[in-house]
Formats: sequence, structure tokens, C-alpha cells
Amino acid sequence: MNSQIERLIKDSVAKLTLRGVETSAFEVRLLLAEVLGCEAAEVLAHSAPLTPEQLNRFEEFAALRGRHVPADKIIGRRGFYKYDFAVSRDVLSPRPDTEILVEAAVAGARRSGCHSVLELGVGSGCVVLSLLAECPRLHGVGVDISAAALDIAAQNARVLGVDGRITFRQGSWFDADFVAALGRQFEMIVSNPPYIASAEIAELDAEVREYDPLPALDGGPDGLDSYRRIAEVAPELLTPGGRIYLEVGENQAETVARIFEASGLRREEVLEDLAGIKRCVILKK
Ligand SMILES: C[S@@+](CC[C@H](N)C(=O)[O-])C[C@H]1O[C@@H](n2cnc3c(N)ncnc32)[C@H](O)[C@@H]1O
Repeated sequence: MNSQIERLIKDSVAKLTLRGVETSAFEVRLLLAEVLGCEAAEVLAHSAPLTPEQLNRFEEFAALRGRHVPADKIIGRRGFYKYDFAVSRDVLSPRPDTEILVEAAVAGARRSGCHSVLELGVGSGCVVLSLLAECPRLHGVGVDISAAALDIAAQNARVLGVDGRITFRQGSWFDADFVAALGRQFEMIVSNPPYIASAEIAELDAEVREYDPLPALDGGPDGLDSYRRIAEVAPELLTPGGRIYLEVGENQAETVARIFEASGLRREEVLEDLAGIKRCVILKK
């Protein structure tokens, strides 16, 4: 056990907590791991003292964290599901809640033996790229309105070695020719669209409001604009028997399921996250 590192972690957590940053020894270990060039789990076993450069860099990281910059946006990557994803201020930081959607879609793709997936709103790519990494016969298309997000997703696809099985397209599902531009159907659609009501954005934690891109958050006046539009296009984009897997915000599951049922899809399952919140809605064409 390295006592310098142990002390550094304890002091940093205490200082950050005083600054009102909700942090943990684990998060501070992540920042230290980046500086030391090792895994977070190996930080305490690091035997050499920190060099002055390493100490300076860690102090810079801790100062940024003290100004409420999220740890993943400081180090430029985040662990999600089973993989590591590059992140930047151009993409939503992957959330543990979204792992439910990935687990359900992976299980569904394996069960049905499906070959094609469309992700609406790829961001960092954490959802569709995890799916491709888990299901070697699957090919995908990922759409996002943000060209900068698509650059990050393409970078993540290369690192995961699935870039040969995914095509990225920039565009908006609100475009009148969205379905025609895609020009084909898919056996599976996955989507975690923006679902925060516009008026609630100002009340979000600064870490979310200032470091996640607005188009990844803002779901319009009642948070449901994207679901309504995706419900219009999904029946045309799914093959007969195809399924859509949607992440939803707290208290949105029932309304979202009804929006898609009104489009002619059949509700199959609603899954809860670890906090017991209905988080994932699955429907079938
Ligand atoms: C909540 S984020 C999800 C990102 C990623 N799939 C994840 O789960 O971490 C929603 C994504 O949808 C994209 N988006 C928002 N509105 C869009 C639109 N009208 N058309 C296409 N993409 C859109 C945003 O740029 C953002 O990357």
C-alpha cells in the first residue's frame, strides 16, 4: 500500500467534498490512475512516489474536478457496460442507467439471431457499439444530429474493432425525408433520445447542464418530442417482427409505451433500473 497515494486520495476527497463536489475515493483513484498510467484498481499498489510532474498533473485534475468538471470529461473516457469509451463535451457521458437498455438489446439480439440494428442518437456510441462488440454477426447504422458526436463514436468503433460493421450518418429524425434517406429497414432499433423537459434543464446539476451537450438532453416542452417523432418513423424502419428498445426518463414509461402503441407497435416489456425506475420500454412491430 502506497501511503503517499492513500493520503492524496483521502485529502482530495475531503477537499472536493468541502467544495460541494459529490465525489468518491473511487473517482479520485480514476484521476490518479490516468496520471500514473495504470488501472484505477492498481493505484494503491503503485510503489514509486509520484514525480513532481505527476503531482502537478493530478493537482490540475483535482482543481478541474473542484470546478465541477465531471471526472470522465477531465480524463476523456468513461467505462460503460463492459467497455471503455472516449468522451468529450460533444457527447453525453454514458450513464449506468443505460446499461439496462444494452443488456436487454444484447439478450434480444442473441435470442432472435438478428443481423441489423439502427441506433437513433448514438452520442459516444456506447449503446450500439457495445451491442456490436457482443454480437459478432450484427451490422449497424448509427444516426446523430451532431457531427462532432459522430467523430467520437467513429473513434470508439475503431478502438473496439467494430468499425467494419457500422456506418454513421449525420441527420435529424425530424427531417421530412429521414426514412427515405436511410433507405432500408432494420430488425432492431435502439434509442436513448433526449427526454428532459426544456424547462427542467436549468435545474439540472451543473455537471450535467454545462458538460453534456444540450441536444442530448432537451426533449422539448414535455420531454417527449423525440419519442413522438421516433414513433412516427419506427414502424417504417422496422422489419416485420422487429423490435425497438427505448430508454425513458423517470415516470415516462407508460406514456412512451402508449405513444408507440398508437403507432401500431405492440408493447412487449418494461424494464426497471437498479433504483426500481421503469427505464427501458421494448415494443415489437
Ligand atoms: C441522450 S443522448 C444518447 C447518447 C448515447 N446513445 C447514450 O446513450 O449515451 C441523445 C443523442 O441524440 C442526439 N440527437 C438529439 N436530437 C436528435 C435528432 N433530432 N436527430 C438525431 N439525433 C439527435 C444527440 O445529439 C445525442 O447524441
